[in-house]
Amino acid sequence: MTELRKRIDEAAQAVKNVCSLEPGVGIILGTGLGALAKRIDVKARIAYADIPHFPTSTVDAHAGELVLGSLSGKFVAAMSGRFHYYEGYSLQQVTFPVRVAKALGIGVLIVSNAAGGLNPEFRSGDLMVITDHINFIGDNPLIGPNDESLGPRYPDMCEPYARDLVELAERTAIERGVRLQRGVYLACSGPCLETRAEYRFMRTIGADAVGMSTVPEVIVAVHSGIRVLGFSAITDECFPDALKPVNIDKIIATANGIEPTLGEIVATCIERLEV
Ligand code: HPA
Repeated sequence: MTELRKRIDEAAQAVKNVCSLEPGVGIILGTGLGALAKRIDVKARIAYADIPHFPTSTVDAHAGELVLGSLSGKFVAAMSGRFHYYEGYSLQQVTFPVRVAKALGIGVLIVSNAAGGLNPEFRSGDLMVITDHINFIGDNPLIGPNDESLGPRYPDMCEPYARDLVELAERTAIERGVRLQRGVYLACSGPCLETRAEYRFMRTIGADAVGMSTVPEVIVAVHSGIRVLGFSAITDECFPDALKPVNIDKIIATANGIEPTLGEIVATCIERLEV
């Protein structure tokens, strides 16, 4: 047994000791999904600091928690608090919670992020369902020895975001009268925002939105055989010929404004999932 497998099993066992119900859906409560957390009928909350081998924030040990409970009639494991590569965590650390969620039983992972819009048809405040991604982080969470019990050495990436889940999100958005864009999410390491030349390049190579998260977790989900549904909250416009200095307060305000709509769409999608 590899060291990683041992750590996953110990972490999963610690969670099972607190709550024995098996979650079918994992949710990473990234930017844009805060409102969803309030809809969960909570059965247990476990601080990351109390789960063996879970990464914890060096700044605030209580920064993250795993929330187990019911949402739209399904039992879910929601990760409240995520880790970013730019904070100094390795991608193995960033993705460890996904490994543990898989060991607990999830078959579907729902992820969200705040992203800059590169597609000129997008506007700040839009929602996008992720159809594909480009990994520009310059690292990969699967580098190192591969544990065949976790997944294959060379995972296929022809459909990281399950097409039927994308269609489910699109149908739900139409029913709710919500404009839902679709597109390719490009992940950079951050923490600096990108230059005009970089935005022009990213658009040229086929990206619709850019951010600093999600792709590592999705790679590990695919490696683990988990089906993924992902959303970007478009918080700013990254058009190289009309670029304005980024305003982080405005980005946060825009993300908060999108939350109720995204929460509603995700809650309805979960209700309709077959897990
Ligand atoms: N780049 C540009 N704009 C953004 C990002 C990013 O990584 N995240 C949210 N808005």
